Amino acid sequence: MFKIIPNKKDIGAEIICDIRNISNKDLKKMKFALQKYGLLFFRNQTLTSKLYLKFAKNFGKLANYPRLRGLSKKYPKITVVQRKASDHGPSFGEQFHTDSIYTKKPPRFTMLLSKLVPQKGKANTEFCSQYLAYDYLPNKIKIKLKKFKGIYSSKGPISVTTIEREKEKGKTSRELKSKHKIIKKIGNKSSLYCSPGHFVGFHPSTKDEIKLKKYLFNHQIKRKFKYSLEWNKNQLTIWDNRSMLHQATPFKGNRIMHRITIN
Ligand SMILES: [Fe+2]
Repeated sequence: MFKIIPNKKDIGAEIICDIRNISNKDLKKMKFALQKYGLLFFRNQTLTSKLYLKFAKNFGKLANYPRLRGLSKKYPKITVVQRKASDHGPSFGEQFHTDSIYTKKPPRFTMLLSKLVPQKGKANTEFCSQYLAYDYLPNKIKIKLKKFKGIYSSKGPISVTTIEREKEKGKTSRELKSKHKIIKKIGNKSSLYCSPGHFVGFHPSTKDEIKLKKYLFNHQIKRKFKYSLEWNKNQLTIWDNRSMLHQATPFKGNRIMHRITIN
């Protein structure tokens, strides 16, 4: 059984299959769907860490993410995103962003496997299609943005949500910064590649920076580009950071996710 069920307006898709028995042909369809829809989710996947890693490797080279602790010595590439009911402050990643965009080569994909989830409908992850965001831009803005790169910092606006995680590890990390073109080509499509959570400026700088930034950030997260993903236990989700912005939503409760990023 292998079935692709696209969401409304093609903002993500559900895949019905058993990841433990996936053929090469279906894997090919999956990769194609990931590029097309930007987000894939698979319900009811009971995977061991070994199988989870093996599946992830089909999509590229596994990345390091030193800001979160590894699951174990054996599985350092699986990091744990955990929130306890007693935790205060914002959840990890609670603002629209692109994972690790402040690095020279940001991971193309992020995978999460839910191990423990709070009540249904709580703790959704929201996604915004940046293919759609690009398509809906007026032509003159498309032309204008082609000239710019965005400058991104690990100490950008969203970094307040990693402070708690860094405390757990007992160290603060140094600032990482990088620049990337704001309009990104993926196959024959274009995407608006800009992370509001990490953005610290345009390159080259421009005198209407504040106005342009405000316009861009408002536009990127319009409701018509958005999909709110519900979580069930043992749900695997993978998204393309180049075409999807995402954010955690606030919740009270216990949650454990196993995360892998892929270059
Ligand atoms: Fe994230």
